[in-house]
Amino acid sequence: MWKKFICALVLAAFLGLQTVNGLYCYTCDSPSSCRSPTSQYCDVNTANTTSAWLRRLHSNVPRTVGNNFKCLNLTYYYPQNNVKTQEILGCYFSSISVCYLFRNANNSYDWEKSCYTCGNDNCNHRNPAGTLSKSSFTIMSSALLLILAKIFK
Ligand SMILES: *[C@@H]1O[C@H](CO)[C@@H](O)[C@H](O)[C@H]1NC(C)=O
Ligand SMILES: *[C@@H]1O[C@H](CO)[C@@H](O)[C@H](O)[C@H]1NC(C)=O
Ligand SMILES: *[C@@H]1O[C@H](CO)[C@@H](O)[C@H](O)[C@H]1NC(C)=O
Repeated sequence: MWKKFICALVLAAFLGLQTVNGLYCYTCDSPSSCRSPTSQYCDVNTANTTSAWLRRLHSNVPRTVGNNFKCLNLTYYYPQNNVKTQEILGCYFSSISVCYLFRNANNSYDWEKSCYTCGNDNCNHRNPAGTLSKSSFTIMSSALLLILAKIFK
């Protein structure tokens, strides 16, 4: 009985840790700075910064503030030669449809758009550095639970 209780407690602690753990996204706002983007913690300030960057190129970025975040890579490039003209990586408020914003006068219709969003730590980078992602954390905690279950059997 006690053993089961302890196992449940350990499980709850791990799950709790994962939700509190928050989200990190690679962050940069130009093709040159995106060659070495930095990883930033998602909060109201970092997401708000991304909204400001999006406003340079789009006319309808809502003044949303929220507590749900995702990671973004939005790139504009010349389709003829794949030369990037704009690149924005960062945390954003997940309620904003970042891939469906209207272009403003700074954003040429000659540019092709590439846009993707994702919800795991540092997932918005093509060659992510070897950081511990949430999924590997989940695998680790499951393994630990298995071991604990064996010990307490
Ligand atoms: C978000 O940024 C805008 C300026 O771009 C600022 O006026 C506003 O206060 C900021 N909001 C928060 C919650 O930081
Ligand atoms: C174009 O970009 C500049 C500099 O980022 C900005 O000040 C200006 O407001 C933008 N133009 C439009 C139409 O949004
Ligand atoms: C962002 O996406 C573009 C287009 O898919 C890609 O070329 C670029 O390498 C990505 N940026 C990073 C930092 O991974």
